[in-house]
Amino acid sequence: MTVTWRNRRYCGDITEADLGNQVHLAGWVDTVRDHGHLLFVHLRDVKGIVQIVFDPRQSESYALAQLLRSEFVVSVMGTVHQRSDDTVNTKLVTGYLEVHCDQLEVVSTSETPPFLISEKDGDHGVTVDEELRLKYRYLDIRRPIVQRNLLVRHQILQAARTFLSDNGFCEVDTPVLTKSTPEGARDYLVPSRVHQGKFYALPQSPQLFKQLLMIGGLDRYFQITKCFRDEDLRPNRQPEFTQIDLEASFIDESFVMELVEGLVVRLFGVAGVSIPTPFPTITYADSMARFGNDHPDMRFGMEMVDVTDAVRTVNYNIFKTIIAAGGTIKGITVKGQSERLSKNVLQEEFAKKVVPALGARGMTWMRCEGGKLQSNIVQFFTDEEQTLLIQRMGADDGDVLMFIADSNPRLVDDVLGRFRIHVADYLGVIPENTVSPCWVTDFPLFELVGGKLSAMHHPFTQPAGAVQSSMAPGDLAQMSARAYDVVINGVEIGGGSIRIHSPDQQQQIFEILGLQPEEIQEKFGFFIDAFRYGPPPHGGLAIGLDRLVAMILGTDSIRDVIAFPKNRMAVCPMTQAPDLVHPEQLADLGVVVKLPVVE
Ligand code: AMO
Repeated sequence: MTVTWRNRRYCGDITEADLGNQVHLAGWVDTVRDHGHLLFVHLRDVKGIVQIVFDPRQSESYALAQLLRSEFVVSVMGTVHQRSDDTVNTKLVTGYLEVHCDQLEVVSTSETPPFLISEKDGDHGVTVDEELRLKYRYLDIRRPIVQRNLLVRHQILQAARTFLSDNGFCEVDTPVLTKSTPEGARDYLVPSRVHQGKFYALPQSPQLFKQLLMIGGLDRYFQITKCFRDEDLRPNRQPEFTQIDLEASFIDESFVMELVEGLVVRLFGVAGVSIPTPFPTITYADSMARFGNDHPDMRFGMEMVDVTDAVRTVNYNIFKTIIAAGGTIKGITVKGQSERLSKNVLQEEFAKKVVPALGARGMTWMRCEGGKLQSNIVQFFTDEEQTLLIQRMGADDGDVLMFIADSNPRLVDDVLGRFRIHVADYLGVIPENTVSPCWVTDFPLFELVGGKLSAMHHPFTQPAGAVQSSMAPGDLAQMSARAYDVVINGVEIGGGSIRIHSPDQQQQIFEILGLQPEEIQEKFGFFIDAFRYGPPPHGGLAIGLDRLVAMILGTDSIRDVIAFPKNRMAVCPMTQAPDLVHPEQLADLGVVVKLPVVE
């Protein structure tokens, strides 16, 4: 009897209950060990590994087994036996059993793979060059750790679908060949053959369509969908990524927050991780002031403290000059780590190398000892000034204080925020198994860059107060938006807002953003038109699925949880996309490519 899908059992599913029974298995050869008198093969499939034993007394299958190499595909019929105590393999779930082969079939052979796939690869492939793993991603996927990542991703998707469906959300798929959506990145364009010279844009998000679904009266929408953004790649960004996108009508911020908290709790629950609710809320301004960014990592302290006032009278030239120039001085307190932070690390590494590389001129540090400060600049501080600084920083003996001063307060926030993470990483004080979520709220409505206003979230976000078109750009930049981000362990997992539902206000925001009437009509005419026909109040949010799954699984990169990711250059090393196309194809599309001049 041969192995078929009807009688096949999975290697990892073989248990004591099968002892003495004949089982049919199929999978890949993980390893072969020839002990002379017996031959052992680890057989691997999607559920795990089981040991197959070949005995010379079964001469036909024994002879065939001697030809086996790693990654051959075989099917095996054999009998399940208990292993003797001294041969039990505690590293395998099935390690106390083995299957004595009665019949072997080699289904397909394999060349020697470019890297080791075996479960014996204890470091889970991390030493293999990622480019090589991505080139042979199908082999990489054979590794149990990658299969686990994809399986958990699937379970998270299933859980998200069930959760949203149970909460009355209807899944709708929106077009991929569409017009530009303003999410702040460049569009990927698709030339139209039928309408030469015209292009579709791949959606940066389904933002416009989900709002149109609300105008369509669908009430609660969700979609698990691909988004495409041509932007500078960073470690947790991909040119195409997946969102759990949702939108609802007749709701406010509290609806979205309660729903998303429930969803996030449910999704972490897939991996058995529990998170307390409600998530704490921090305003954008507070987050910038205390953490130096809008995605605060709250797993550890070392919050930034503004001491500009406290050191105003200090006779230290650097501080004096910076204060006179309207700058700020901010610091962090590293609790109880004075002994681990040598002068060499603080001065030669942190102050001279790390902080300048982060973009500030330097860093001033002090130790707290015997209720006083100690460093090479404390002679500039009176006793009272030292006491005030110690108080402000909440310092105790054994703590180290580090300060960054600059005439540009934003630079201080940015550099100290990143330095805070660096120091915490260096000291290993970020708790690994803690999940620390929060909501960031009260984002500015606009960003003012080089005198030009742009939407901080996107131009459909409702202002938190009345906007007057006559307001100066500086005043407009002070306006808050009804926008919110969900942040976990310092990573922006999702973002959304309550939307504008008044056509006049939407028009006004477009105008403030400097869009000319023809441009508004050309880009968003269909959208503005829809607002003339009874738009309900609505709002929503999108979760970055890849980032969320990577966080739940604790992987280093979002590439680890995407089946076929692009590399850091936005290239797929396996298919070599993006690639050149045939001149006939370009001619069909009416596209002329201006190739870069080769020098
Ligand atoms: P936003 O642009 O904030 O909002 O995107 C939502 C979430 O998507 C994830 N994300 C990414 N993940 C991987 N690679 C990328 N290049 C990438 N860009 C974004 C982030 C982010 O928080 N339409 C709005 C949502 C709304 O307003 O409802 C939107 O797309 O985790």
